[in-house]
Amino acid sequence: MDKSSPIAVFDSGMGGLTVLSRIIRLMPCENTVYYADSAHCPYGPRPAEQVRELVARAVDVLMGMEAKIVVLACNTASVAAVDYLRARYPVDFVAMEPAVKPAVLTTRTGVVGVLATRGTVDGAALARLRRTWSQAEVVALAGEGLVEIVESDTEDSDEARRLSEFYTGQLLDKGADRIVLGCTHYPFLRPQIERAIGGRATVIDPAPAVARRVESLLRERGLLNDGACEGSRLFLSSLGDDYNRRLEKKLENYMRIDDTER
Ligand code: DGL
Repeated sequence: MDKSSPIAVFDSGMGGLTVLSRIIRLMPCENTVYYADSAHCPYGPRPAEQVRELVARAVDVLMGMEAKIVVLACNTASVAAVDYLRARYPVDFVAMEPAVKPAVLTTRTGVVGVLATRGTVDGAALARLRRTWSQAEVVALAGEGLVEIVESDTEDSDEARRLSEFYTGQLLDKGADRIVLGCTHYPFLRPQIERAIGGRATVIDPAPAVARRVESLLRERGLLNDGACEGSRLFLSSLGDDYNRRLEKKLENYMRIDDTER
């Protein structure tokens, strides 16, 4: 493994592209390989042991590609598998967790909303964050149906608008003035979510912070590929070529809308 080895980014499907987008923006020289376990997406409703097995299988593929770091760009996979993976593989893992800390530190109402998958809402990471940041109330909601919308490229549909209004409405009714996107698929719906919120709360996406964490870890290890170059991009999945091409296109489109400094 050396500087030119790829950064591996993993998700159950297309959600991790919202993290990859920030990694590429911050470290354009890095070679990246994205792997989606799309044959088993969504992970959200699956039992944690099953998610752990699926993620370990995907990590085996990425280790075969000499990844220098693995980004679990999936909250559901992170909560179910990160401890297991760190104990078994000789590589750094960067995991996702809902961005409760910045939300609690900035809320004015004292109520923070978290929109995530069922697995993350019920998982140990959120329970720990709730205990650590107990000075605010954390209201968590499972955004059922949102992952499917992103996977089917129907972010502009009536259903996407209806569900965005439905979920954010519930969080706003509870008094939340910060809404944490606790699933990496949801930033694809950020325009719909922001429209539904209408300025009544601030949306928080942890992807930029995760990209900065990847950069600092690589720097620490002397593995940052910071020459003058453009990194290579590889897109893989458990569904095959058609889906892999969709990943590439989806990232391209997302990088066009994910253009603000956050
Ligand atoms: N994108 C994933 C997450 O951050 C999971 C979506 C799913 O497979 O349910 O949790």
